[in-house]
Amino acid sequence: MTGAAGFVGRRLVARLVAAGHEVAGLVHGTGRPALDPDGEGTGWQAVMGDLLIPRDYEPALEGVDTVIHAAAATGKATPEHHWRVNVEGTAHLLDAARRHNVRRVVHVSSIAVRFRHTKRYPYAQAKQEAERLVLASGLDTVVLRPTIIVGPGAPVLQALERLARLPIIPVFGDGRAKVQPVFVEDAVGAMVAAAETDRRWTAPLDLGGPERLTIEAFLRAIARARGHVRRRTVHLPLSLVIPPLIVGEAVAFRFMPLTVGQLATFRCDGIGDLPPDFPPDAVPRTGVAQMLERSIADE
Ligand SMILES: NC(=O)c1ccc[n+]([C@@H]2O[C@H](COP(=O)([O-])OP(=O)(O)OC[C@H]3O[C@@H](n4cnc5c(N)ncnc54)[C@H](OP(=O)(O)O)[C@@H]3O)[C@@H](O)[C@H]2O)c1
Repeated sequence: MTGAAGFVGRRLVARLVAAGHEVAGLVHGTGRPALDPDGEGTGWQAVMGDLLIPRDYEPALEGVDTVIHAAAATGKATPEHHWRVNVEGTAHLLDAARRHNVRRVVHVSSIAVRFRHTKRYPYAQAKQEAERLVLASGLDTVVLRPTIIVGPGAPVLQALERLARLPIIPVFGDGRAKVQPVFVEDAVGAMVAAAETDRRWTAPLDLGGPERLTIEAFLRAIARARGHVRRRTVHLPLSLVIPPLIVGEAVAFRFMPLTVGQLATFRCDGIGDLPPDFPPDAVPRTGVAQMLERSIADE
């Protein structure tokens, strides 16, 4: 699997090992204390390397049955970086998987590929193209499109919490875009099930939690989970917020707190369910209040 040191990847490795699989995980950055670079004593083999340098990880693909591709450039990065890692990195991995006769590739995409506003959202554009490559690869593939993934240390949750913590919560736009957050342990369970099953799906599968709510209601739920019961919200029209962000991104990208692309969650519905023929034990069941409670308790 790739992305083994990431927010999702760390849990995925643990779940695969617990299920009795022999796991090799691609680790990009170094200095993560939880990881032993030799893989000794962790129950899995950590392969240090870069998706863009296939020789880093090709030897580890020898004899591999299934690849779960969870690595991605996910945060604030230039469009070029998103494209290189998420498109070219995926293309290299698919080529390598083909050379090593991998049985199945589970590709972790994102619900953002379905957003209407991706023009200034390089992450979503790159994930769209990566999906296209995966589906055209000729390999046996399962494409999963998670919605917002919530859990202890979730990057998206941290960003939304910064807003929910303010005395008056700013909501970009009308706040009516719908979200369907999925608990990280549920998302990981679905990824493992997609790897284990022989069932085939030719179209991408949405991977959302059991509840749909507006982004404004989700922000209020985050505030409530933090004990802020009576927070007010103020709506900031997108027509006022987006133009200065566009200018800011052009002249001071590194210093911008938020990108226009990241605002897409406030503008587009990010919802969807697994299909009815997905293994029933792996369908997400953790509700929003419970996932927030568990995220905060385990911080
Ligand atoms: N979290 C969400 O809400 C969410 C929602 C929908 C979809 N997803 C998808 O779920 C997957 C996991 O996301 P996440 O939240 O766990 O993100 P994350 O914490 O940023 O993890 C991504 C991992 O990919 C690695 N990576 C980045 N560039 C790489 C490269 N060139 N070579 C090898 N590895 C590289 C990162 O390593 P370094 O940090 O060391 O570079 C990181 O460990 C991603 O595909 C993401 O698009 C996430």
